[in-house]
Amino acid sequence: MAVVVLISGSGSNLQAIIDATQRGELNIEIKAVISNRSGVKGLQRAADAGIPTETLDHKRFASRPAFDHTLQQHIDHYQPTLLILAGFMRILTTEFVRHYQGRLLNIHPSLLPKYTGLNTHQRAIEAQDSEHGASIHFVTEELDGGPVILQGKVPVKITDTPAQLAERVLQVEHQIYPQVIQWFSKGKIQLVGNHILFDQKPLQSPLNLTMEENREQ
Ligand code: GAR
Repeated sequence: MAVVVLISGSGSNLQAIIDATQRGELNIEIKAVISNRSGVKGLQRAADAGIPTETLDHKRFASRPAFDHTLQQHIDHYQPTLLILAGFMRILTTEFVRHYQGRLLNIHPSLLPKYTGLNTHQRAIEAQDSEHGASIHFVTEELDGGPVILQGKVPVKITDTPAQLAERVLQVEHQIYPQVIQWFSKGKIQLVGNHILFDQKPLQSPLNLTMEENREQ
């Protein structure tokens, strides 16, 4: 299955996907990694794995639609079956999202619908949540609002700083993203309208993976 991954930074989720592919757990070919920021670590990770890379700097475009239109052309050159957002820190236009509807996945560092947007770890700490985590969802036109497939949960410690909590969440991110990509590649998950079918049956609520148990519930 041809895949394109979009990143903006460190690319640790990209690395988890590369590692799972190299271990033979994912039957995908990452055709390209595209970043909107130059010189980021994720581009180096891709290059180290022999994956073609491109940088498309959004600041060089006059408008969001102009950037998204060119990005779409670059992506479609690779004819991906699945487009993966892995720490891609851009709000996407409706046209872009519609074009990839049903084959566009994102990871968000919160237990959606909690904490859409930014600073999710700090907000979970300030709210004194006992549990936090990350969500993999299909991208729809609503920002961070598409149907959630799988969530990874971690405990929040009283002493946690946002950075410590972010690190714990990242560990579970690296487990749940390859899992969902594997399901997608095997045709187990489908977006129909605004709902998910899992093995052809409606998914009533997100699936869960908790870090302590380290297994699906
Ligand atoms: C991850 O925590 C991911 O959930 C988050 O950015 C980080 C990227 O890390 N994504 C978002 O906030 C999207 N709104 P990585 O570059 O090391 O994979």
